[in-house]
Amino acid sequence: MARKRVYSGIRATGRLHLGNYLGAVKGMLALQDKYDCVFSVVDAHTITVPYDPKTLRQSVRDIILDYLAAGLDPKKCKLEIQSQIPQHTELAYYLATIYPVSRLEDLPTYKEKKAQYPKYVNMGLLYYPVLMAADVLLYKGELVPVGIDQEPHLEVMREIARKFNSMFGETFPEPKRFATSGQYVPSLAGGGKMSKSIEGSFITLSDDLETIKKRLAAAPTDSGTLGGNLPKEGGVANLFMLLKLFVLDDVYNKFVHDYKDKKIRYSELKAVLADAIYKELKPLQERRRRFEQNPKLVDEILEESKAKCLKIAESTMQEVREKMGLV
Ligand code: TYM
Repeated sequence: MARKRVYSGIRATGRLHLGNYLGAVKGMLALQDKYDCVFSVVDAHTITVPYDPKTLRQSVRDIILDYLAAGLDPKKCKLEIQSQIPQHTELAYYLATIYPVSRLEDLPTYKEKKAQYPKYVNMGLLYYPVLMAADVLLYKGELVPVGIDQEPHLEVMREIARKFNSMFGETFPEPKRFATSGQYVPSLAGGGKMSKSIEGSFITLSDDLETIKKRLAAAPTDSGTLGGNLPKEGGVANLFMLLKLFVLDDVYNKFVHDYKDKKIRYSELKAVLADAIYKELKPLQERRRRFEQNPKLVDEILEESKAKCLKIAESTMQEVREKMGLV
């Protein structure tokens, strides 16, 4: 029996942060041993918001290097640069013809981006979830390792798959999200999630220990004398959430007790957390340097993956064109 297909992608908007790593890349790492995986840098999605064409290619390369550094293994999975597989945009257009505009206008991510860039409300932004559906369906992906913020997009993907299947015959599986324990990594800035577009909210995979300490030092806390249960939101809640993702239970529980007993020292918590984060990131940073020093190897990995991806993509497109009556 063929192995289940897995697909995920990350936009090329700068170096990966802990949210990307724990919410998406950790899921990719968990799945690459078992399934037939394609992991992408989705550059066609990246250009839906203002960007610099002069640096885009390097940003794409940076994500590829971060993928390899994190341990994605080209012997086990395919690495894709989305725009090099033109079937993505072809399928997206065909799928757009069966999906209502009103549903896309209602999506929270579209509304957020509209508010963030009021002078850049382009068709690509509205089209974003359709292209994302095409990304996964092109490979008939069944599992999608992404953070919880992507769930509305997964719902659109399933709706599109169902609609296509009912109109043109059974073709696509209905993809499910693969969740990790870090499916929602909180911001360091006190509220919301860790995000590249919010300064002070993130730690990147390339940060050294000093930078991690500096970023954590700026994270808001309280007087440390409130006691009782941990707060559910805000700076302290977020710090504890991060701590839980990086340290063993007994270390976490010690700080919870300190908090309850009104004797917590946030400087101590932040020092423990910084060390734990750096311990996880150091091997990634070393591996990244090895790939950076060997650009030819990275090029070969990409070429080999591209050939395999093109083959699968073209096979799906032939089926789609036939079923839609285009050939
Ligand atoms: P993007 O580039 O915004 O984010 C990449 C991945 O990182 C996850 N993520 C988080 N997870 C937990 N906590 C956080 N604070 C956090 N911040 C980001 C995201 O959930 C995502 O998994 N639409 C996608 C890109 C995409 C895609 C696809 C994904 C395009 N086509 C097909 C999967 C399949 C996006 O904007 O991700």
